[in-house]
Amino acid sequence: MIPAEIIKIKRNGGSISKTDLKTFVDGFTAGKISDAQMSALFMAIYFSGMDNDEIFMLVKLMLDSGQKMDFSHLESYVADKHSTGGVGDKVSIILGPLLAAAGIAVPMISGRSLGHTGGTLDKLETIPGLTTEISLEKFRQQVDSIGISMIGQTQEICPADKKMYSLRNATGTVESIPLICGSIMSKKIAEGIQGLVLDVKIGSGAFMKTIKQGRELGELLKRIGEDFNIRTDIIYSNMDQPLGKTAGLWCEVAESIDALRGAGAPDLMELTFELGAKLLLQAGITSSRATAIAIQQDLISQGKAWDKFIEMAGAQKGKTAGLEKTSSFHIPRHEKLFYAHKSGFIQSMDTTRIGLALIELGAGRKNSSDNVDPTAGMVFFQKLGAEVKTGEPLIRCFNSNSRKLEIALNYLKPTFRIGSDKTAYSLIIVKK
Ligand code: URA
Repeated sequence: MIPAEIIKIKRNGGSISKTDLKTFVDGFTAGKISDAQMSALFMAIYFSGMDNDEIFMLVKLMLDSGQKMDFSHLESYVADKHSTGGVGDKVSIILGPLLAAAGIAVPMISGRSLGHTGGTLDKLETIPGLTTEISLEKFRQQVDSIGISMIGQTQEICPADKKMYSLRNATGTVESIPLICGSIMSKKIAEGIQGLVLDVKIGSGAFMKTIKQGRELGELLKRIGEDFNIRTDIIYSNMDQPLGKTAGLWCEVAESIDALRGAGAPDLMELTFELGAKLLLQAGITSSRATAIAIQQDLISQGKAWDKFIEMAGAQKGKTAGLEKTSSFHIPRHEKLFYAHKSGFIQSMDTTRIGLALIELGAGRKNSSDNVDPTAGMVFFQKLGAEVKTGEPLIRCFNSNSRKLEIALNYLKPTFRIGSDKTAYSLIIVKK
């Protein structure tokens, strides 16, 4: 069918046939469907949604755009973790090596920054020399030999998601359950994993703002995983504030390095261990959640998770000498404090706004071709519920472009609601 006619079907709320969806996914991957046509279809999907048959078809077509890994020759359990996207969410950088140190093989395919949320690849690539663009053969060998590799979508694996991901980012079409399902699950299924844990984020800094939306997404992701024979666990976690102490590029890697070396922020470690426990239980390494958490704590305190991280970074051409001296890398040229506008308890944060201010700083992209600034980021001094005084610093913002720094600070102004009552907050919303 003519592409514009397929777009009109979805625009008018209809279902797209398998043949027509294939025309779009294959045609776009091959450069025969233009960015303009695909953007229009994304917007139509954003408004009209997709039924489950269409969503499963979308996942399959995106998966089939590239190769699928096979790790069945490995004795170890092969598994991965993925998040639906948040601010300050650096869990993958910590949990990947931690799981590999526990004996689980982790062939992780991640993404770049998406919407207001940060991207694991952009963060990892701030490690001098490190590349996340490696051949599938090298990816396989690295998982075989050291138990972990962290890469992005390539021409060989998930090329449809590679192109669709950056187009969604540039066209305001990220927050769509069908498109999120296609993007996440095509990557995870292509990894050839046996098990998966998904961190479905809910709250002011997530794509899913309400528990109802989060559950709808989580249940669908689980059904897709299980349909492709992947044991899939879901944790619903709170994204009403940034995770950990920092958000941005190198600063998040630095925080992850501290975490791998035993000095992680409490909320960051709680979530990391909860997610990791699901996979340790799946792998049969233990049958107790408490033991699964203790195993992970030991791997960190014995330095084994850190060693695995260094081994992985080195295998991907990262220059790892002295990496633990995190303040010696990517020193920002400019920094400014953002202050509390009144006294009281921090009742809420518009965490999406924080993510958008990070883009203004240079930690994310407005257009697909934008370069990111590795020095850009924020350090957060207070969490939800903290009592603060007028004029007290809440965030330190930094980057290497003073004009962008001013724009970001200005953008942050309406972020915090401060009032006289303390509101309740719980990091883990539901473990399933
Ligand atoms: N992570 C992805 O890989 N894709 C999405 O759409 C959202 C989060």
